[in-house]
Amino acid sequence: MAVMREPAPRPLPTGPLAWMSVYRDLANQPLDTFFRFGAVSDRALLNIGTRRMLLVSHPDDITEVLVNQNRRFRKGRALRLMHRVLGDGLLTSEGDLWRRQRRLAQPAFHRQRVSQYGAAIVELTQTLLAEWEDGVERDVARDMTRLGLSVAGACLFGMEVGHQADVVRTNLTAAMRYGNRTIKALWAPPRWLPSPGRQRYERAAANLDAVVFDIIERRRRAQDSGSPPQDLLGLLMEARDEEGRPMTDQQLRDESMTLLLAGHETSANALSWTFYLLDRHPAAAARLEEELAETLRGHAPTSDDVARLSYLAAVVSESLRLYPPVWLMVRESQLAFQLGGEEYPPGLQVLISPFVVHHDARWHPEPEQFRPERWLNDSARLRPALSYLPFGAGSRLCIGRPFALLEISLVLAAVLSRWRLERAAVAPVGVDPLITLRPRGGPGGRDGLLMTPRRR
Ligand code: HEM
Repeated sequence: MAVMREPAPRPLPTGPLAWMSVYRDLANQPLDTFFRFGAVSDRALLNIGTRRMLLVSHPDDITEVLVNQNRRFRKGRALRLMHRVLGDGLLTSEGDLWRRQRRLAQPAFHRQRVSQYGAAIVELTQTLLAEWEDGVERDVARDMTRLGLSVAGACLFGMEVGHQADVVRTNLTAAMRYGNRTIKALWAPPRWLPSPGRQRYERAAANLDAVVFDIIERRRRAQDSGSPPQDLLGLLMEARDEEGRPMTDQQLRDESMTLLLAGHETSANALSWTFYLLDRHPAAAARLEEELAETLRGHAPTSDDVARLSYLAAVVSESLRLYPPVWLMVRESQLAFQLGGEEYPPGLQVLISPFVVHHDARWHPEPEQFRPERWLNDSARLRPALSYLPFGAGSRLCIGRPFALLEISLVLAAVLSRWRLERAAVAPVGVDPLITLRPRGGPGGRDGLLMTPRRR
């Protein structure tokens, strides 16, 4: 993996031929290429053909884009390409619709409410662990996807959806690959032309639709039964607008799809990367093991325990720093905006890469090192706030942050107090920068993460 290295500044290329090589690098090695540009300039302007992109990597500028001048931007083109799948859900919608939906969904994600999900998270983790056998290799990324879906299903939709994990993972992968290919292409066929790629994307979206419509249908039956579960989907179904109208089926579908996908894929990636990092850093794993043994004393972890597991929190922060599941956020300027006294025009794709910022030695000394200790001392508080942004920032900050942190902490605590995960292969695992940052350490070096559980 080319990620573990110090930045090697090179001047930004100029001229059309040079930009063709940048284009090729961006298409083939996006992480490395963004990293290289971020190391050269805090505001790297990339003109590729008719595309104009600005990679913004200084925390002050990021604050301008995501917080202070956020009304001048909307979400970028990459997410709009996923519209067939995500529709106008919370992740993609804008303006009044977004504000209304965010207000509606917010109560389901308040810290106190979220802490009630702890027991379900631990129980579902233990159900998964009952399948593990000492010394028998597993695809941990696949396991974490299944667990993430079960958790999202139970906590957000009040039902089991883990059995759909393979359908969701396969079709989400296909949809993300389509999005990635299309955003990279210098020329894309018009939408109405049924290219093979577009057809595969349509099929993937239709398969995901079937999963979500089944969830809504099952939930409607529970709603009609008189004792509906008090979960997010119920909240959305009962919501009424100012004129007393419920959400349309389409809106319900878009929000449910968004929460189902956003609610499991990122947490599953974070968990997989953390298992991988702990295997490669035995001293950190041993310290975490000690903390878990002392705090839990043989009991299953609870939401209340999480606040006392400070080293675990540091491990999670460090894992999200090195491998931020959302490695790139894109905004499109709708109005002119200013950074450092310089004016930039409307229509610019502004790229913010948590991956680039998190590997910047100015804010995170020895950035390639996995050192959870950096989160235990005060120095972490002295760095600029947006030098660390795994959950984004500003009004579009991840709504699922408290839920994700609780889930990741409890799953790690429940797994690691009983099991150690080892990876047989010594070669570093590759990164698969789709829309999310997945490990590429599965069977045959593909999507996934093969590891062997050993009972403690
Ligand atoms: C480690 C886990 C997670 C990470 C790293 C993560 C990261 C992010 C990031 C960076 C954004 C902002 C994107 C942008 O500004 O363009 C975001 C937004 C969002 N996330 Fe997460 N997320 C995680 C887990 C979750 C979970 C568990 C849920 C739901 C249960 C969720 C639901 C959402 C939604 C709905 C949005 C859009 C919010 C809005 O724009 O109002 N995420 N997430």
